[in-house]
Amino acid sequence: MQKFFIQTFGCQMNVYDGWRIATMLEHHGMVRTDDISDADIIILNTCAVRAKATDKVFSALGRIRRAKKPSALFGIVGCVARESGADAFRRIPDLNFVLGPQSYHKLPEILKNPDTKLLNIDLGGLEKFDELPQMERSPRVAYIPIQEGCNHCCTYCIVPYTRGREISRAYDDVIRDTIHAAKTGAIEICFLGQNVNGYKYTDDKGHTYRLSDLIRETAKIPEIMRIRFTSSYPTEMTDDLIKMFAIEPKLLPFLNMPIQSGSKNILTKMNRPYTLELYCDIINKLKTARPEIQISSDFIVGFPGETDEDFAETMRIAQKIKYINSYSFKYSPRPHTGAALMPNQVPENIKAARLAELDSYLNELQRDFNESCIDKTLSCLLEGPDKTGKHLIYRTQFMQQCIVENAESAPELANILITAANKASLRGKIIS
Ligand code: SAH
Ligand code: F3S
Repeated sequence: MQKFFIQTFGCQMNVYDGWRIATMLEHHGMVRTDDISDADIIILNTCAVRAKATDKVFSALGRIRRAKKPSALFGIVGCVARESGADAFRRIPDLNFVLGPQSYHKLPEILKNPDTKLLNIDLGGLEKFDELPQMERSPRVAYIPIQEGCNHCCTYCIVPYTRGREISRAYDDVIRDTIHAAKTGAIEICFLGQNVNGYKYTDDKGHTYRLSDLIRETAKIPEIMRIRFTSSYPTEMTDDLIKMFAIEPKLLPFLNMPIQSGSKNILTKMNRPYTLELYCDIINKLKTARPEIQISSDFIVGFPGETDEDFAETMRIAQKIKYINSYSFKYSPRPHTGAALMPNQVPENIKAARLAELDSYLNELQRDFNESCIDKTLSCLLEGPDKTGKHLIYRTQFMQQCIVENAESAPELANILITAANKASLRGKIIS
C-alpha cells in the first residue's frame, strides 16, 4: 500500500486544505505515515504570509530531499507554491509538483504521471470544493470555508495574490457541508474566510445570503452546540451579524477582529481605511448585543513609516479594548505587495523592540482576563488528553485552554468551575 506524508503550515484555511488533501489521497487507496523515509509522496502544505514562513518551507524541502526514498515524489501546495511558481523548480530541481491553493485537487495527476513536473498555480475559484471527496468522519470542531480569497488588498498582505479575488461559496453548498459535518461527529462549527464577515452570496432567484443567515441556519442543527467564525474585517461587521450575538446563544462570545495598528496614519498606509472611532463603535455595539463578548486582534509592528508615536497609539488601543488571545507580528516585506516598495522601512532592531513591548503587554492582558475567570463556571469543549494522558484539555467559550484531571466520564461539552489561572491556561473542575 502506498503511503503519503503531509505537513501543514499556517492558518486554519490551510489546516482545512490539509484534511481535504489527506481524504483525497485515502480515496486513492493510500495511507498516511508520519515517517518521511517511508513515504511514497511527501506534501508540504504551505504559508507565505511572512518571509520566515516561506523560508521555513524551503529549508524543510532541503531536509526532505535527503531523508526521502529515492523513488518518492515530493512537492509543495498552497500559498508558497503560488508565491514561487516555476521558480520553486529552479530552487529545488528534483521537486515534482507545485500546486497553488486553488489547484491542489490536481495532485492525483502526479501519481498517474510521476515522471512529469506538475505546475498549476491558477486561481480557478471554487472548483476544488466540488472535486474533492467529503471527509467520512468530521473532527469535533469542523472548519467550514465559506469563501476563497480577499478583496481588501491591505498593502502588506500577499493573500490577495496567493488566494486571489474574494468569492463566496454557494449558501446551499455551505449548509450541505455543515450538515454533513454535524452528522459525522462535529459539535462545533467554525466558518472560515479571509474576510469571513464579508460573505455574500446571491442565488438564481436573486436572494442574497450573508454570514448571519448561515449562522441562523446552522444553529437549527441539533448536534451543533457552538458556532464561531474567523477572520473578520472591522467594517464588514454589519448590524444583522451583530444582532446574532444577541439572539443566538450557540454563537460564542468571542470574536477575532484584527485592528493591525492603532495609528490612523499607518492604517491609511496599510489601506485599511477605518477610523479608531468606527472600530470602537463596532465593539460597543457588540458589547451591547452580548455583554460578556471578548475581542482578539492581530497586530503588525514596524510597518514602513511607523514612528514611536504611531506605535504608542497601537499600545493605547490595546489598553483601551483589552484584547485577549491576540497575535502580533513584525512587518515582513512580501513580494507582490505595495508596502514592500514603500520608503522608510523600519530597522529590524526597532521592530524587534516594539514587538517585545506589545507582546509582553498582550500577555499581561491575557493573564488578567484568565485570572478574572477564577470562581466562574465556563462552558468548555473537549479537545482531548494532554501528552501525559493525566489531564484533559478543554477550550472555553473565549478560546482559552482549560486543563482538568483526566476522569472516566468526561463530557464533550462540560461546565467547568475555574480554580486557577495563569497567562497560558486555566485549571478547573468539571461540574456537569
Ligand atoms: N484575514 C486573514 C489575514 C491573513 S494574514 C486571516 O486572518 O486569515 C494573518 C495575519 O498575518 C494578518 O492579520 C496580519 O496581522 C499578519 N500579516 C499579514 N501580512 C503580513 C506581513 N507582510 N508582515 C507581517 N504580518 C503580516
Ligand atoms: Fe490580507 Fe487584509 Fe485580506 S490582511 S487577507 S488583504 S483583509
